[in-house]
Amino acid sequence: MCGIAGYIGYRDAYPIVIKGLQRLEYRGYDSAGILLFDKDVSISKTKGKVSDLEAIMINGIFKKGSIGFGHTRWATHGVPNNVNSHPHVSNSGELVIIHNGIIENYDAIKKELIKRGYTFQSDTDTEVLVNLIEEVKKTHDCKLGKAVQIALNQVIGAYAIAVFDKAKPDEIIVAKLGSPIAIGIGKENKEFFVASDASPFIEYTKDAIYLEDEEMAIIRKNKEIKIRKIKDDSLITPQVQELKMNLEQIEKGGYDHFMLKEIHEQPNAITDTYRGRLIADQGIIRLSGVDNNLEKFTNANRIIIVACGTSWHAGLVAEYLFEDFARIPVEVEYASEFRYRNPILTEKDIVIAISQSGETADTLAAIKLAKEKGAFVYGVCNVVGSSIARESDAGSYTHAGPEIGVASTKAFTTQITVLSLMALRLANVKGTMSSSKYHMYLQELELIPQKIASLLKIDDHIKEIAKTYLLSNNCLYLGRGFNFPVALEGALKLKEISYIHAEGYPAAEMKHGPIALIDDRMPVFVIAINKGHYEKVVSNIQEIKSRKGKIIAVVTEGDTQVKEIADHVIEIPETEEAFTPLLTTIPLQLLSYHIAVMRNCNVDQPRNLAKSVTVE
Ligand code: AGP
Repeated sequence: MCGIAGYIGYRDAYPIVIKGLQRLEYRGYDSAGILLFDKDVSISKTKGKVSDLEAIMINGIFKKGSIGFGHTRWATHGVPNNVNSHPHVSNSGELVIIHNGIIENYDAIKKELIKRGYTFQSDTDTEVLVNLIEEVKKTHDCKLGKAVQIALNQVIGAYAIAVFDKAKPDEIIVAKLGSPIAIGIGKENKEFFVASDASPFIEYTKDAIYLEDEEMAIIRKNKEIKIRKIKDDSLITPQVQELKMNLEQIEKGGYDHFMLKEIHEQPNAITDTYRGRLIADQGIIRLSGVDNNLEKFTNANRIIIVACGTSWHAGLVAEYLFEDFARIPVEVEYASEFRYRNPILTEKDIVIAISQSGETADTLAAIKLAKEKGAFVYGVCNVVGSSIARESDAGSYTHAGPEIGVASTKAFTTQITVLSLMALRLANVKGTMSSSKYHMYLQELELIPQKIASLLKIDDHIKEIAKTYLLSNNCLYLGRGFNFPVALEGALKLKEISYIHAEGYPAAEMKHGPIALIDDRMPVFVIAINKGHYEKVVSNIQEIKSRKGKIIAVVTEGDTQVKEIADHVIEIPETEEAFTPLLTTIPLQLLSYHIAVMRNCNVDQPRNLAKSVTVE
């Protein structure tokens, strides 16, 4: 996710764009940049936050102009640095672009443009796009709007772009597919605002157009805005709506908290994470970090996963995935323990570090130790260019976008998505999974986002259950197999944001002690999907019921048996057992969220916690 903000009208563009970018920093803060046009184009950009951009513009000479746009970056292609920051300029210097999204086929387009004499300064997909638009404009001898329309019919991926042509400095072209664009309409078309959401212009106008996918807009000062279909250039009647949200609501996407917004972002986050990597109908998985190191993975003695917190839980799910799919022995270690216990490692070991922030001190120390001992280190991080990503020998990023809420949600499910792709890729290469099963899994993985989207619709039902248990002092979470780590994760979510003590346990472990805790004040959340050892989980539930425990069961849609004995049931869609963690975790995230809100806890910034634990 990145933030874009633009202005064209009669006011000074600089203060509007800069303040707009500050409001969009929740969407990304790796680097920032701005284009302004007065008598000529001036572009300033820098690694770091919007405040760093302001600092390099302090002398003021480049602040004039009543047309401009800016960008605050969440890196996906190319590490955060000055060169990779937006805006990007075409080879001729005439065209300037800012972009939020991912162009999947940028590599093929870049190779073709290089053949035609284009050169590139950055590693970004965005610089490829602006030069593709330039090449189309030249070869078709057409205006910017037409060139953008033709060029976008050649790209695959997601984009929200704003493009400027120095030769026509009274217009901005914007286009959308997969990433948001809001256009603020000033009185009598005297001014227009463009942004990733309405927060940059809410105080100037309440009239907005939200572009739909595959739509573009030609925005000119004092002229009616033109909306066109990218596919065939046909004109569309603009649908202007009156904004009702206030600034804070807009930044949270209309949700009360970033955590709830991020829970609901998971279908898109997972789609973005497998975009360009999973081509299910062709049975293809493309993970360059794995593809370029296949020998290491297929000949590895074992995989050791090091992580902390929620990322450690994702590592536990990965243990089941790698061992079941690819038959590679896996050990999962708390990074904080691994780093001090003088582990035995050889160059035949692969260490996978999982970290949303990519800055967790214990995990970073663990991989430094692993490298000293000769192991190959693979990073699964969400923040591009983070310390753990840079320290790793190779890796795959989750494309979850910034995760602001301290409680990890979309990071967990996108980590499992990357790890599932890795395990399936290796299973296919090693021949440890039949081709039919491999294809079935790819088709099913592609369906997960829509299954999560349908699951998110039962939020009211979960809120009702939360009301019943919000005063509990202790809770137990049980799961088996792939869902044992989800039981741990559900317990962590509850305790870290609602401050209720909660423990996760393998369901079969109840009789080895925890069952002594059961009474009518102990809610037990049980993951009882109709896969794996379902019947054994049912007997665990009966053991708890016979001791007056309260049962909240997560079951597969259509379950009848558990429904008979549980106090509450939450149904999830059917899927393969290996992918059930991607679904069973959703109701547990929502449950902990609602309980925490009802207990008036600070959901996004719980007491004593930090989003990234960069110290021991
Ligand atoms: C999870 O909700 C917590 N925020 C915490 O356990 C977190 O997962 C842990 O600190 C690891 O962070 P990382 O993924 O950024 O390394």
